[in-house]
Amino acid sequence: MSATTARRAVIKGTGSALPRTRVSNEQLSERVDTTDEWIVERTGIRFRHIAEDDETTSSLATLSAKEALAAAEMTPADIDLIVVATATPDQTFPATATIVQNDLGCNGCVAFDVAAVCSGFLYALSVAESMIRAGSAQNAIVIGAETFSRILDWEDRATCVLFGDGAGAVILSGEETDKGVLATRLHADGAHNQLLYVDGGAGTTGTVGKLRMKGREVFRHAVVNLSSVLIEALEAAGETSDNIDWVVPHQANARILDATAKKLGLDPAKVIKTVDQHANTSAASVPLALDAAVRDGRIKRDDLLVLEAMGGGFTWGASVIRY
Ligand code: UT7
Repeated sequence: MSATTARRAVIKGTGSALPRTRVSNEQLSERVDTTDEWIVERTGIRFRHIAEDDETTSSLATLSAKEALAAAEMTPADIDLIVVATATPDQTFPATATIVQNDLGCNGCVAFDVAAVCSGFLYALSVAESMIRAGSAQNAIVIGAETFSRILDWEDRATCVLFGDGAGAVILSGEETDKGVLATRLHADGAHNQLLYVDGGAGTTGTVGKLRMKGREVFRHAVVNLSSVLIEALEAAGETSDNIDWVVPHQANARILDATAKKLGLDPAKVIKTVDQHANTSAASVPLALDAAVRDGRIKRDDLLVLEAMGGGFTWGASVIRY
């Protein structure tokens, strides 16, 4: 079904950035009590990129933004809004978005961070898209960027093998069109705070803390929540799952992607999977997967996309986009 023409936010370009150092499961098993076999079988992960000392959330975010600007054939001067989704900001404050803004050289525009952990990119996209629809922004950079390696407990094999670092970005522009972001649905349920959290913070321990997760419980909630929010967003967009060209999901675990696709009766070949190459990069995972599939030619103009994610909080959401 074609949407009505209205002021909507259209994706004009995508970009991504990964740290220089790529670490295989084999390499990880030299410092952590684990095996390539366990990691591949339970998660589908084969590699993750880990930031070196000179690589930060903001530096990766800036690189991904530059790539997205080039893809959109735009310059920093065209941008009036920057939203960065991250749970690993360079500093407690200022917002990482202001560091990115200064590095890009578009000082003066609106710039702030959004914290919704692995769903952060969906939340950031929704905020930017709402501002564009309302007419308070025209061209936005929306970035998901993380350096989770810095909040991992490298003694905890149940979590440290699962995550990686990286950044992905999109340029959103306001246009009168029947394309772009058609509908987004977001949720949060703080009753599950203790299933996935960091055991420190500026306002409590005064430290950064380390990531803690009860993986099995998170897994169970993820499949249920992702399936329901995907259907909800499709209904809001007036679409059905038969019309989906590509699902671009949060890349936590290949088994979650397969189970969600099965629950919804979706062809697994329509699900973009980068978890094998990137592991779980939290807020960066959806835009990293999107950029990979745009650049290798799978995602084409006019395709119907569903972006979805679930993470700490819990938070979860889905967005239906005519690309
Ligand atoms: O991004 C936010 C959303 N996050 C997620 O969606 C993550 C969701 N959860 C998961 O992906 C999975 O639950 C995990 C991958 C985290 C774990 O898989 P699981 O099949 O639920 O395993 P488990 O935690 O129940 O552990 C099974 C066994 C345990 O041994 P015993 O007690 O059965 O003897 C663990 O000690 O696997 C052991 N184990 C490991 N063995 C080798 C845990 N981690 C490792 C490891 N290497 N790295």
